[in-house]
Amino acid sequence: MTKLWGSRFTKPTSASVEAFNSSLSVDRRLYEEDIAASIAHARMLARQSIIPLGDARAIVAGLARVYAELVEAGGPPDDASAEDIHSLVEVRLSELAGPAGGRLHTARSRNDQVATDLRLWSRRALCDCLAGVLGMQAALLERAAADRGLIMPGYTHLQRAQPVLLAHHWLAYVDMLSRDLARLEACYERVDVLPLGSGALAGSPYRLDRAYVARLLGFTSISTNSLDAVSDRDFVVEHLAALALVGVHLSRLAEELVIWSSAEFGFVEMDDAYATGSSIMPQKKNPDVAELVRAKSGRAVGSLVSLLVLLKGLPLAYNKDLQEDKEPYFRAVDDGLDCLRLSSEMLRTLKVRADRLRAAAGDPLLLATDLADRLAQAGLPFREAHAIVGALVRRAEAGEASLRSLAAADPALGPEAAALVAPGVAVTRRTTPGGAGPAAVRAQLARFTLELADLRERLGVPGALGVRSPMGSFGEKVAESDAKSVVSDTFSQK
Ligand code: ARG
Repeated sequence: MTKLWGSRFTKPTSASVEAFNSSLSVDRRLYEEDIAASIAHARMLARQSIIPLGDARAIVAGLARVYAELVEAGGPPDDASAEDIHSLVEVRLSELAGPAGGRLHTARSRNDQVATDLRLWSRRALCDCLAGVLGMQAALLERAAADRGLIMPGYTHLQRAQPVLLAHHWLAYVDMLSRDLARLEACYERVDVLPLGSGALAGSPYRLDRAYVARLLGFTSISTNSLDAVSDRDFVVEHLAALALVGVHLSRLAEELVIWSSAEFGFVEMDDAYATGSSIMPQKKNPDVAELVRAKSGRAVGSLVSLLVLLKGLPLAYNKDLQEDKEPYFRAVDDGLDCLRLSSEMLRTLKVRADRLRAAAGDPLLLATDLADRLAQAGLPFREAHAIVGALVRRAEAGEASLRSLAAADPALGPEAAALVAPGVAVTRRTTPGGAGPAAVRAQLARFTLELADLRERLGVPGALGVRSPMGSFGEKVAESDAKSVVSDTFSQK
């Protein structure tokens, strides 16, 4: 394995250490970010007359070729053939560009390089996560609009409590995801800082123009402490925390869909394309997608805890422990995006069983609170009203008669009160803002629909999230592998 640091050693690295030390199989995903950041660095070095212009041209052209080769090969190899992605790119560059390639690492360390690459990756991943959450919200809003008239029992302790609109239930998740969006956006602000120029830990003696590199890579600002910039990964923790919460929210929904699709509830049926069968029991239709969403959210929590524990004992500045940040991070982002997409698809195709909902919502016991409210509104202290209705419930449960006929026969309540608390009527009485009744739900639906349209526009979704794409047009330039235009563009700005 060609290394960037062999000369002070008298023995070759043991093969087992090479395998143990290599991070290529994980950080290979950073190749695009690594090359973009290197091009920006080389352009800055030449602009500041730190390296000769001709060498910078050779570096940029060489990097564009490395990029094209890697794209052609379907990405860097998934093995330990290099120590990491930074070594792989630099070694190949030197093969292509000769001695000029050796100037790229002037005023740079892999420590500020990897922190930069990871922040570039994070920006893109955050954009993808924002788009995923928006997509899930859109699916929930569609469901809420389609299921607007349906009433279901609302639950506490998984015991029937009071009637709610099914749309209200879906919109509860839109609210949760709105807060997730805000958390992801807030994280973006803190990710959007350039560490490059921090060197290994102490900055550098060269006259670097860090702001220029930040501009080229689309970073809003540059880091302000070199020790911190190369060694903290709190931005990863923040992203993981936001993702863990997205996961927890999706998992709660998944859990409900699992329960609701059981024969006991029968509120929903999974579309055949989003369910699986049993190898032994021919009748089975299993909600595997929902179960996997539930399970993967546990892994997101695990990734968050991994990162926190990884960081907590590290002295300043860089330590190799930090190399282990990527695997849990990448996995959590991959899982999160999968779960958002699959949950949206599962929800969109879900069959809601109106008959089963109607039957469950018809349970008169759901109206006990409304009966007590009725008595309280007529002037009785609520505690007394609660006791009176409680006694009626006890008699209904004992089989004497239905709660509704007992209420109709009760002198304090009477037939009028009993009629008022029919399921379709009770829910319309939930008029408080944010409540489960039709007027409140209509207002929520209207507000969310506007908010979502606004967010989509601001974040540039759908599409490739061009507005806040991490590579900006810079990445596209590299992708074109038109070295000449990258180079001329670079030096025309000098
Ligand atoms: N592969 C390393 C990582 O991901 C790159 C930084 C290596 N730096 C070092 N001083 N060994 O953290």
